Amino acid sequence: MKALVWHGKEDIRCDTVSDPEIEDARDAIIKVTSCAICGSDLHLFHNFIPAMEPGDIMGHEMMGEVVEVGSGINGALKKGDRIVVPFTILCGECDQCKRGNFSVCERSNRNKDMADKVFGHATAGLFGYTHLTGGYPGGQAEYLRVPFADKTHIKVPDSLTDEQALFLGDIFPTGWQAAVNCDIQPTDTVAIWGCGPVGQMAIRSAVLLGAKQVVAIDCIPERLSMAEAGGAITINFETESVVERLNDLTTGKGPEKCIDAVGLESHVSMGQPDTLLDRAKQMVMLESDRPHVLREMIYVCRPAGIISIPGVYGGLIDKIPFGAAMNKGLTFRMGQTHVNRWTDDLLKRIQEGQIDPSFVITHSVSLEQGPEMYKTFRDKHDGCIKVVLKP
Ligand SMILES: NC(=O)c1ccc[n+]([C@@H]2O[C@H](COP(=O)([O-])OP(=O)(O)OC[C@H]3O[C@@H](n4cnc5c(N)ncnc54)[C@H](O)[C@@H]3O)[C@@H](O)[C@H]2O)c1
Ligand SMILES: [Zn+2]
Ligand SMILES: [Zn+2]
Repeated sequence: MKALVWHGKEDIRCDTVSDPEIEDARDAIIKVTSCAICGSDLHLFHNFIPAMEPGDIMGHEMMGEVVEVGSGINGALKKGDRIVVPFTILCGECDQCKRGNFSVCERSNRNKDMADKVFGHATAGLFGYTHLTGGYPGGQAEYLRVPFADKTHIKVPDSLTDEQALFLGDIFPTGWQAAVNCDIQPTDTVAIWGCGPVGQMAIRSAVLLGAKQVVAIDCIPERLSMAEAGGAITINFETESVVERLNDLTTGKGPEKCIDAVGLESHVSMGQPDTLLDRAKQMVMLESDRPHVLREMIYVCRPAGIISIPGVYGGLIDKIPFGAAMNKGLTFRMGQTHVNRWTDDLLKRIQEGQIDPSFVITHSVSLEQGPEMYKTFRDKHDGCIKVVLKP
């Protein structure tokens, strides 16, 4: 089959590889009908997350048709079913899964020993996302093996198109969880850094959850326009001061709730000297991530506020104003998304027409065009906000 394969930093190719096979009784194989490139894939593209190996198949946002099931699926799925595959692989039976904490499932990470050493305790297996999270082949491919498939799936009603359903596997619940983690009150200002696909979903989620005011920050004009269309007031951090604008919009008190939808690859710019220092430290391996957004959020957030972090961080960060965070009594919430925790609610909202997540798609192309689309998405060329690939 054809698949997008990681060969090293900024080197992803569309290769011919062997088809996946059933390896365990709880496996299923799907024929992928749609998959997407996620901001998290860019961190792998740039080799910022450890434990990728040449030959790894990329992709963790995908859906398709079930073509084969293992003997232990017990009727949970059958050939011909149309499913979205959540990026977090869940066993459905461990202590964490029982609590709905699916992104820290205790059984699905087959490289648990390595992850225990790096993180203290292992997290769940993820598709196409390094050997630290199991080294499972991803879904930017014609076929995908889904482990624990009796639990690791979202059935899609026929009434929804692929484009409407696909993002239930990652960016929609990610933006939603980020907003839910803010405990949004009707009097709240929610400030959201990053108007990429995750930021866009977080904006609409914060609006749906009833925030008084949603403010979105980025520097890419078409992403800011899309944010505005979703109901946000926007700040272009290249032309105005984020801290001053946010204070102006909140009678000098700062936003109660702050969401980091940027993560470890904050833009490096002359106007933000700390980003230059982070970049320099990254080059000599003194720091792994660029946490400018975290610093800005801690500084501007209203005392007793909440900092919600869906943006991915990989390792070690410097110069975090922890004294400010502690003394202001801020609450931090973060994590990879517990995708299936939110499925029923979000599927219903799509079916009721409260939201159609396909609004974010700007490019729909073949799998073969994947390698060049990684660059287009990374560089924000051609108005690119979200890429869907059709294997
Ligand atoms: N927690 C999860 O489960 C989960 C799931 C999906 C994605 N993510 C993460 O969410 C983050 C965003 O993903 P995406 O798909 O939207 O990616 P993206 O790269 O398209 O979006 C990031 C946006 O941040 C903007 N940005 C950069 N520096 C900024 C700054 N200083 N202030 C404001 N905006 C800034 C960029 O211009 C870009 O529009 C990534 O870190 C990704 O790994 C996490
Ligand atoms: Zn993702
Ligand atoms: Zn589990």
